[in-house]
Amino acid sequence: MKACPVIAIDGPSGSGKGTIAGILAARLDFSLLDSGALYRAVGITVHKSRIEISNTKQIIEIINNMDVCFQYNDVGRIFVDGEDLTTLIRSELGGQMASKVAVLPEVRGALLDKQLAFRAGPGLVADGRDMGTVVFPDAELKIFLNANVQERAQRRYNQLIGKGIDATLPDLLRDLKERDRRDTERPVSPLRPGKGAVIIDSTDLTIQEVVDQVLTLFSTVASRPY
Ligand code: DC
Repeated sequence: MKACPVIAIDGPSGSGKGTIAGILAARLDFSLLDSGALYRAVGITVHKSRIEISNTKQIIEIINNMDVCFQYNDVGRIFVDGEDLTTLIRSELGGQMASKVAVLPEVRGALLDKQLAFRAGPGLVADGRDMGTVVFPDAELKIFLNANVQERAQRRYNQLIGKGIDATLPDLLRDLKERDRRDTERPVSPLRPGKGAVIIDSTDLTIQEVVDQVLTLFSTVASRPY
């Protein structure tokens, strides 16, 4: 067990990993890396700057000069170069743009150091698609959180409607399937469980049940009680 343990939580959109990662980080007093938000921040900045996805050179320049800052104390706000872009980053457009830039190996490489920098004491909960496979392959605990696509679309629908945002279930289902396909079929860092990952299907589990399962698993690998 290293000085700074990492819990890597990977899985498809809507599997609940963001919520679970946030609860675990608060409970363990660990740092939190929402790697999807980094990809979303890049996607939205590319969109706002009207840069073509094929213009890798300019996208990398954006990443190298981009300052992304997370504020987790209230609803979890994301600032890019000092501007609060939370709503845009969390929108469907943010998700679609993120999944488009995420297929570019240069983008993944440029974001690697930014993600590694989140590893600090007393520990880190890292949420994404390649946390256990590429970014933190030495993570103490790797979780692959899944749920069936209908359930994930329904969760996303409830979330958006709860926030007063217009959405339709068929549109969300189509977008999720498209994003799943892009995430799992890309040649670089495709979404898949890391070596030794524990697969949890959250379709019929409550958030609390998933959190409890992960905490129990973590207590078996942690060198001290948390
Ligand atoms: O977890 P999310 O929905 O915020 O992620 C948005 C997109 O970013 C998702 O479609 C895939 C991409 N992503 C990635 O490729 N690798 C990560 N570690 C995190 C997200």
